[in-house]
Amino acid sequence: MNVELRHISKFFGPVRANDDITVTFEAGKIHGLLGENGAGKSTLMKILSGFLRPDRGEIYLDGQRVTFRHPADALAQGVGMLHQDPMDFPAMTVLENFVAGSPGGLTVNRREARKALQELGEQFGFHLDPDAEVASLTVGERQQLEILRLLWLGARVLIFDEPTTGISAQQKERLFEALRRLAAEGRTIIFVTHKLYEVEELCHTATVLRQGKLMGRRTAPYDLDELVQLMFGRVLKMERKPPIPLGETIYRVENLVVEAPRVNIRGVYLEVRRGEVIGLAGMEGSGQRHLLQACAGLLRPSEGRIWFKGQDMTGRSYLDFYREGVTYLPATRMEEGLLPGMDITQHLLLSRPAQGFFLDNHWANGLAQEAISEFRIRGRPDTVAEALSGGNQQRLLLSMLRPKLDLIFMEHPTRGLDMESTLWVWEKLLERCRQGTAIFFMSSDLDEILNYSDRVLVFFGGQVSAPIPAEELDAESLGRLIGGYGFVPAEEALTQTTAP
Ligand SMILES: Nc1ncnc2c1ncn2[C@@H]1O[C@H](COP(=O)(O)OP(=O)(O)OP(=O)(O)O)[C@@H](O)[C@H]1O
Ligand SMILES: [Mg+2]
Repeated sequence: MNVELRHISKFFGPVRANDDITVTFEAGKIHGLLGENGAGKSTLMKILSGFLRPDRGEIYLDGQRVTFRHPADALAQGVGMLHQDPMDFPAMTVLENFVAGSPGGLTVNRREARKALQELGEQFGFHLDPDAEVASLTVGERQQLEILRLLWLGARVLIFDEPTTGISAQQKERLFEALRRLAAEGRTIIFVTHKLYEVEELCHTATVLRQGKLMGRRTAPYDLDELVQLMFGRVLKMERKPPIPLGETIYRVENLVVEAPRVNIRGVYLEVRRGEVIGLAGMEGSGQRHLLQACAGLLRPSEGRIWFKGQDMTGRSYLDFYREGVTYLPATRMEEGLLPGMDITQHLLLSRPAQGFFLDNHWANGLAQEAISEFRIRGRPDTVAEALSGGNQQRLLLSMLRPKLDLIFMEHPTRGLDMESTLWVWEKLLERCRQGTAIFFMSSDLDEILNYSDRVLVFFGGQVSAPIPAEELDAESLGRLIGGYGFVPAEEALTQTTAP
């Protein structure tokens, strides 16, 4: 089905999220929709899929004008969207979720639905247990479920809003295969991203938005510098961080052991100095998160000791670490970090210790204004968290970090951010390092690990390596270790070096 958007405009108060956008997406092709954070990509796709109504403009499917009042209208016409922050029904099983939204609703023939789920899943190599709870699925698996659901409902135009954020490399391979196959079957695929290499690898066309406006459309093969220019108006590059002088040892772990299903982390010895950055690299779900949480008192290690600022913190809770100047920033912004329904001001209030009994509105508003300008959040003090674009949600989370911190733990600090925002976030973080803060972060972006870490812990299959100085690594060697080639678990490395 050919999709044509004509003169689409959408304003949120003073913000021109979409400004007179006219673009065509032909059937049988994968179309990249590119743009920096806040460029208007999600807004345009929500309009195409019936989640938002445009202020102006028209939608045509195979030349026929359509208007959508609800997502269900769009889906009935064959347009389905996978959202950036997955909306699902976590209290359901996979099968229940699969049949939700189908014309028969929950009364649909279970046996047929189960069969359809399994058959469709097989076609795409998505192996989902129909009776598992949706809440127990990884981000990648939830996405696979949503793809199958939309296909079952007859979607011929499939919109993916930043689908590779938060899924493993292997799931990404599967996803790309599925997308190629869906396009070959004649479906129209729209792939929203700000990762140029994904567009280069996958997309037949690339449409670029900037500040709500259409900057241009190109077809493969692309001139990447030109795409960057269209996206940002200038050329950007991530570089290795400048050297930062390190201070005294602030954090020390000795013989840490963390055990969980499929996780067997042993032999972690680490001394971290003020200003130092430790990167945790590995495929999603290889144990990074477990170690990070154990180091911050969120998860109880089975063995080992932890010292922080000279105190023995072994067995202490996150609250104790927090009181001593530690913060842990989780990966899922809307699920663990931000509260839907609460605005920017309220978030900042929550992040600051109480200032007496009465709430000073003036003070609170000032706090919000300050954060908005310092962190360049596109929103107003009364904008609720869920109305912010993904990148702006991340900025809000960062603005909520307390001013004085000794140690920060972060899961994917720049996930979902475009290159400009990523550079900016790290500039802010390195500023803190210069003032003596140490940072632990996990990331699936090899460049981010290499560019910003002093030392790297590599995770593979639930095990961890000994710390490796970042300057001994490049993208190739790190990529191989993450894939298990030449990977030596810390515990083995210990016995090797101490053996006579
Ligand atoms: N419901 C809303 N209310 C107010 N402003 C909104 C709303 N939805 C989006 N905006 C604003 O419209 C602009 C475009 O947002 P959009 O979510 O479309 O950007 P995006 O290109 O998807 O960005 P990202 O890469 O960060 O996801 C942003 O400035 C955003 O803050
Ligand atoms: Mg978006």
